[in-house]
Amino acid sequence: MPSYEAIEPVDVLARELGIPEEQIVKLDGNENPYGPASGVQEALARYPYYHIYSDPHQREVRQALAEYVGVDAGHIVCGNGSDELLDLAGRLFLEAHDAVVTAPPTFGIYAFVAAIYGARVVEVARRPDFGLDLPEMTSALRDGSKLLFLASPNNPTGNPLSREELDRLLSGDAVVVIDEAYAEFADDSFVPLVPERDNLIVLRTFSKWAGLAGLRFGYGVFPKPVAELMHKIKMPYNVNVAAQAAVLASLGAKGVLMERVCLIVGERARLSEMLSALGWLRPLPSRANFLLCEVNGPDAQDVWRRLRQKGIIIRHFDTPELRRFLRISVGRPEDTGRLVAALREIGAGVGK
Ligand SMILES: Cc1ncc(COP(=O)(O)O)c(C=O)c1O
Repeated sequence: MPSYEAIEPVDVLARELGIPEEQIVKLDGNENPYGPASGVQEALARYPYYHIYSDPHQREVRQALAEYVGVDAGHIVCGNGSDELLDLAGRLFLEAHDAVVTAPPTFGIYAFVAAIYGARVVEVARRPDFGLDLPEMTSALRDGSKLLFLASPNNPTGNPLSREELDRLLSGDAVVVIDEAYAEFADDSFVPLVPERDNLIVLRTFSKWAGLAGLRFGYGVFPKPVAELMHKIKMPYNVNVAAQAAVLASLGAKGVLMERVCLIVGERARLSEMLSALGWLRPLPSRANFLLCEVNGPDAQDVWRRLRQKGIIIRHFDTPELRRFLRISVGRPEDTGRLVAALREIGAGVGK
């Protein structure tokens, strides 16, 4: 099976590029440029029980999450990042040769999870505008597929799934996993539907809106019988005490974190306008904290490489459908400034 191509942390990039860490503009991981809420560091410093195993049932955190998303705690399962929950969903539902449906271009972990469990991936390519091909998707689901993995908003395209589309997808027999890693930026969620359905799972994370990507905490909202099975098959101490303390502190500082989400959403619009004004980049509408841009003129990979040499790290995917695109995470206004200045130089260099 192919390995998953993960991104590098700042210290590794700095060493590799010979650029001081503080000069790296990291816009490749859809991370939160404002970091965790200020109360998180104090909560971690104060926490008295690092020498004691964490609660295997994550009771306090699940109760706090239940209040945050508005469902009963019996629906909630926590993971070491939502990646772990994707893996556990694979462990629970998949056997070798089962079919898993995905809608590429999308988050690479879905195909990775399928490969780990020896499942087949049925790729239902998105339309040229990156919307879902619903007729193809429903017919793929009719063929006995076990799981459907969909991100909403989708990574890397930024577009959300509609309620009508979801209703169509839920009418089949497959378990539908909606990955809402970017829900707070989209200000929309399918979580309230979970208690009414027996084949809908919604995954969320604290990596993006709450700035805890490095601490690793994700959670999922599951039909209760599925949540019980997930608890049965997970490793008991899968979420460490530091992540749990950080999540509780983040939920306590929800207001501040949501103000930052608003800043990022505002910056997304400003960045999009500035990129369009260059004349050779076409940012697609996005409900997440990143923009997928079509590159018209210069070679996208060459632009990616030149930015990297300047310490500005964005994402290029070398696949047929994304070769002409770049994905740029929304940073702070000063990050936008450095990025756009560098892009102007690069654009001038290629005669644009
Ligand atoms: C769609 C999607 N799902 C999940 C994740 C990973 O989330 P976590 O950090 O909670 O594992 C990402 C991270 O980029 C993502 O884009």
